[in-house]
Amino acid sequence: MGLLETRKLTKSFGGAQAVDHVDLSFEAGKITALIGPNGSGKTTLIHTITGMMPMGGGTVVISDSIELSKIAAQDVASYGITRTFQNSRLIQQMSVLDNVLFVLTERNFFGSLFERHGTFHLDAAEDILKKIGLWEKRDEKAENLSYGQRKLLEVARAVLMKANVYFFDEPFAGLFPEMRKTISDIMRKLKNAGAAVVLVEHDMELVRELADHCYVLDSGKVIAEGTPEQVLKQANVVEAYLGK
Ligand SMILES: Nc1ncnc2c1ncn2[C@@H]1O[C@H](COP(=O)(O)OP(=O)(O)OP(=O)(O)O)[C@@H](O)[C@H]1O
Ligand SMILES: [Mg+2]
Repeated sequence: MGLLETRKLTKSFGGAQAVDHVDLSFEAGKITALIGPNGSGKTTLIHTITGMMPMGGGTVVISDSIELSKIAAQDVASYGITRTFQNSRLIQQMSVLDNVLFVLTERNFFGSLFERHGTFHLDAAEDILKKIGLWEKRDEKAENLSYGQRKLLEVARAVLMKANVYFFDEPFAGLFPEMRKTISDIMRKLKNAGAAVVLVEHDMELVRELADHCYVLDSGKVIAEGTPEQVLKQANVVEAYLGK
């Protein structure tokens, strides 16, 4: 049973089915890759699961117990779900440190009541910023960071949500190898701590290296699933990529 499952999840824009009756299962302690050519529905799928867009049909099942046909963005964290964005959603005018502290205090209302005045937040912020090599940049405004540094900060913010299910939408795109390693290490740690980690990724080397399980989307439909090794040699998967 997955920590999060979709059942016939559907989303259309006008007449076009961006996500078409998709059944997925994201399991604890596994990295699941969501791959497919540009425009195949990967980001839309994440948007509907995380309340950024209403679902057109179908449901999302959390921990085999709650079945939802609607998810409001403000409730997503309370279901143990977090995500990064393909295009960074940092608060550009805020410092690196404040971007991180903001997540820590907003994470949940009761948590923030008890934690706000402790050193707890600062310690957690320092810890993650050191891990991603941005502690020295803590007073810089987010807008002054490099593209790669912003992506790292975006990942740090997701990690601090302490979720059960993490969606990473192309976290490695355009990053240098050193930064890629930092993010892979973080994803493996989340997996080893029992989270369900979902990775949208176009680099198949990274998918082979990181993913335990893989779903391939094409035109909003799941066309293959299995280990990266199994799916990447399937003729229909190769064709889906070549066709674009
Ligand atoms: N807000 C929107 N309004 C209308 N159509 C949209 C919208 N968002 C996405 N689409 C369409 O839905 C389909 C799926 O897009 P989506 O961004 O989910 O693909 P993707 O798999 O994430 O692609 P990429 O790999 O390029 O990020 C595409 O045909 C896209 O044009
Ligand atoms: Mg996308």
